Amino acid sequence: KQYTALLPAAGIGSRMQASVPKQYLCLGELTILETTAKVFLSHPAIMQVLIVLHPEDKWFSQLSLAKDSRIQTVTGGDERADSVLAGLQASNPNEWVLVHDAARPCITQSDISKLISSVEKQQCGGILATQVRDTMKRGAKDKVAETVSREQLWHALTPQMFKAGELKENIQNALLSGAAITDEASAMEWASSPVSLVTGRSDNIKVTCPEDLALAKWFISQQKS
Ligand code: CTP
Ligand code: MG
Repeated sequence: KQYTALLPAAGIGSRMQASVPKQYLCLGELTILETTAKVFLSHPAIMQVLIVLHPEDKWFSQLSLAKDSRIQTVTGGDERADSVLAGLQASNPNEWVLVHDAARPCITQSDISKLISSVEKQQCGGILATQVRDTMKRGAKDKVAETVSREQLWHALTPQMFKAGELKENIQNALLSGAAITDEASAMEWASSPVSLVTGRSDNIKVTCPEDLALAKWFISQQKS
């Protein structure tokens, strides 16, 4: 066991329009956050799970998860990148960290293993991603400007695996420069660090809008059968 999983869970889930932040909505017996954390806690390569919480979080302490000795919590910030930075401050800079959205509960053990083995082999950070399937258009107002070749286009998923110290420095510097940092890879790209694309499962969705909840339940039920 050698890796830390860092789960940003400090968002408010505005697009979900629920009465609690979406990570605390139930997917059957467990909340989304518990479902996600359990996949990492039961993975043989993960030694520790760092969960980033909203400063006013009042739900986490009620979960049985809160008693697990391998879980540590830290307080997040206004943007996802701030929350990830808070988690990285609590990480060993020389170790690999797998940053994974708490809102992606359909992550599988096998995709985590696939990312780890690819990154270990190449000694270069990497992310799970899926190739774009639809025909892609660039828009100009409400008209099509052109069709964009999808051959080189990928959807960035999580986990995203990097050395904690390098990632922290790159996010800090990229934010200072005003770059848009919407995932970990974008901070590494900003610093011209290579990032491997590792093909992941397309059911690793981020629960974002109300209709995603039923979809996530369905995917998880299919994974179990
Ligand atoms: N996140 C975080 N800190 C923030 C914002 C987001 O830790 N300041 C986390 C969320 O809790 C989520 C993940 O980052 O697990 C992905 O973010 P997103 O899907 O955008 O979640 P929310 O920001 O909560 O949702 P919304 O954008 O609809 O408000
Ligand atoms: Mg958000």
